[in-house]
Amino acid sequence: MTNGTLQTRRLGQGLEVGSIGLGCMGMNWAYGATEADKGEAIATIHQALERGVTLLDTADAYGPHTNEELVGGAIRGRREQVVLATKFGLVRGIKAIPGVSAQTVNGRPEYAKASCDGSLRRLGVDHIDLYYLHRVDPNTPIEDTVGAMKELVEAGKVRHIGLSEASPETIRRAHAVHPVTAVQSEYSLWSREPEDGVLETLRELGIGLVAYSPLGRGFLSGAIKSVDDLAPDDYRRTSPRFMGDNFQRNLELVAVVEEIARRKGVTPAQLALAWVMAQGDDIVPIPGTRRRTRLDENLGAAAVDLTPGDLEEIASVLPRAVGDRYGEIGMRELNG
Ligand SMILES: NC(=O)c1ccc[n+]([C@@H]2O[C@H](COP(=O)([O-])OP(=O)(O)OC[C@H]3O[C@@H](n4cnc5c(N)ncnc54)[C@H](OP(=O)(O)O)[C@@H]3O)[C@@H](O)[C@H]2O)c1
Repeated sequence: MTNGTLQTRRLGQGLEVGSIGLGCMGMNWAYGATEADKGEAIATIHQALERGVTLLDTADAYGPHTNEELVGGAIRGRREQVVLATKFGLVRGIKAIPGVSAQTVNGRPEYAKASCDGSLRRLGVDHIDLYYLHRVDPNTPIEDTVGAMKELVEAGKVRHIGLSEASPETIRRAHAVHPVTAVQSEYSLWSREPEDGVLETLRELGIGLVAYSPLGRGFLSGAIKSVDDLAPDDYRRTSPRFMGDNFQRNLELVAVVEEIARRKGVTPAQLALAWVMAQGDDIVPIPGTRRRTRLDENLGAAAVDLTPGDLEEIASVLPRAVGDRYGEIGMRELNG
């Protein structure tokens, strides 16, 4: 089935989306964007929708809050074309809501409900299509969090629910309270963690995987050759994979991606995305970009055909990345 120029894929619960989504986080946060990038970022969202992208990904934590405002403004008048996904629960940097104690992850029912109202307001919409818990709160039973998300569905504020970076056990417990449509986890040539049990669980339960940072936060595209290519306030400067020796050793991994891409006649970014897409029809990557040229390049990945031989070669030569994908606190919040 086609939608614009892009094929569609099905996540859980029959939710159909363009086979590649658009990550909006870096449009005004984390990756060195400035106010001057805003116009191009909005044009990128518009062009994505014209090309058949439907899944737009944001979160209240991005900015915080300003990324939802940017996305909300960009989709005004285009709401019907969008499968709008946002997230709550990661409260680092978000001002405490009165009565809710400060912690880095918050999955309490009252926080879920207050966050949803805030997101609806900033996005300027009357419902969210896919609402994720951004990280699992170790201090709140997942049944309580998902119970609140279920109430949001019943209230018509949310259509589908999802989890991010959740463990197989948590996914099962959540799914027993309310059907989970998608789990969003980092998945790329250099982040293969979902293969350690999560993908298997999702397939058993009929839940889709939304693959975030499928370009390795840009690194796998080959466009970043030195830490100096990143703005002084770029989040990636604090990521172990981008630091010191790890950066240099990971460049060797990128050289392998570049070489295979060259032989296939595609760009490294397209190879990286095509690899994610080849791992199953139930997987939808959400590469992030704030530029129309890169959007078009990335959407070109949908037409890249990797043969079983290509996939075997990639698997045999590509080692995993050197260095954790988050700092110490971020690592503790994973697989919750
Ligand atoms: N659930 C979670 O915890 C979580 C965590 C991280 C991200 N996410 C979501 O996933 C989305 C995607 O992940 P991500 O943005 O972290 O990483 P990504 O998609 O792997 O990479 C994005 C970076 O790559 C650059 N880029 C994009 N296309 C390129 C191309 N063709 N050639 C060269 N560079 C290219 C972008 O720069 P330009 O913008 O300058 O093109 C940006 O810096 C985010 O936007 C966010 O919505 C979720």
